[in-house]
Amino acid sequence: MLITNIGQLVTNASGVPGDVAVVRDAAIVIEGGDIAWVGPAAATPRTHPDTVILDVEGRAMMPGFVDAHTHLVYAGDRSEEFARRLRGESYEQILASGGGIHSTVAATRAASSSELVDAAASRMGRMLRMGTTTVEVKSGYGLTAFDEMRLLHAAVAAGQRASRTMGSIDLAPDGTSHELHEWQVTVGSDTRPTVVPTFLGAHVPDRGMERADYVALVVEEMLPTIPGNADFCDVFVDRGAFTVDDARRILTIAAGLGLGLRLHAEQLSHTGAAALAAELGAASADHLDHATPEDAAALAVAGVVATLLPAASFSMRSPQAPGRMLWDAGVTVAIATDCNPGTSNVESMPLVIALACLEMGLTPEEAIWAATLGGARSLRLADRGRVTPGAVADLVILDAPSYLHIPYRPGTDLVWKVMKSGEWVG
Ligand code: NIG
Ligand code: FE
Repeated sequence: MLITNIGQLVTNASGVPGDVAVVRDAAIVIEGGDIAWVGPAAATPRTHPDTVILDVEGRAMMPGFVDAHTHLVYAGDRSEEFARRLRGESYEQILASGGGIHSTVAATRAASSSELVDAAASRMGRMLRMGTTTVEVKSGYGLTAFDEMRLLHAAVAAGQRASRTMGSIDLAPDGTSHELHEWQVTVGSDTRPTVVPTFLGAHVPDRGMERADYVALVVEEMLPTIPGNADFCDVFVDRGAFTVDDARRILTIAAGLGLGLRLHAEQLSHTGAAALAAELGAASADHLDHATPEDAAALAVAGVVATLLPAASFSMRSPQAPGRMLWDAGVTVAIATDCNPGTSNVESMPLVIALACLEMGLTPEEAIWAATLGGARSLRLADRGRVTPGAVADLVILDAPSYLHIPYRPGTDLVWKVMKSGEWVG
């Protein structure tokens, strides 16, 4: 396939953060789901006579968005809690009173596996139509060995698997194993984003359990089953969740099992989790609302990506993470939705780009880069987030002449067409 007459093509070709490396009046040749050639339309190589040609009439194009932080497998919704917060209650008060994450855990446990897959697949379908071609998905609303594994499998069943093959499990209370192929039949075969599963068993301690006992459960019963079922391990370090020492213990074991590391760090308070991410060489430290210049220096030196979630602070009406400070300190920044029922019921990366600019102070080029190649760096995926030969053909075409229209026109659906691995979506 040849896509031509692209008015403005964001390539991210240099790999330098914030350098979107635009090619004007561009063309792209796609072969077998990958990008084969990129350059000025005037220099298009001669293609096979059967090549399908799409003239996009001067529209802007960019890599598909890489949403590197979501909690999108869950049942139920928390719109009532959302309203309680707007009437003055705090997130932590609601969590301490047994609501918050715990109410989603209860609804999620009560849902059937096919209900979970269907709910996740419809969220992913909307995301894909808004340009998200790769999505990280965390467990964390199960909080038992069985339910955490069920969420990881539901995430994978609802999307396309990134790389590794699924491990088999035999965890059902009655001793039977999940039948993953049956779930895939439910979902059907239409195009889905690539899913990168992350194990977040250490989201909060299960209700009625001491923190130390829950950490022991994570370490002894859950973690050994995770390799092959998730690519990363994450821990929520905060008041009401886990301590830096808990996280060090869990993540050290996870690293020994070959999992990549991520952390929910400095979200509600400053705990030292960002420094731990640097100490452990984590792939990503996320949220960082309360990060300090010392944290930024440590993350920059250790090469930990800061995955910032401006829609969460927006939805919580709390101050934004210091994105400008982190960027200026030399930290590689990604931006993501944090899609979850409690703190950020947001599926749209274009909205996140607008918030990163308007609320957090990134430039449009920084925000576009952070939503594409930044997300790929956060997930350690080398084959996406850029439009260069050899990359996966994950592409967004805007019904606009410039990527600047994304932050300039927040709330307007500007995505004209999406390509996933060389195939047009919907
Ligand atoms: O990223 N920080 C913890 N986890 C989620 C919120 C989960 C929830 O409230 O359901 C977050 O904000
Ligand atoms: Fe989160």
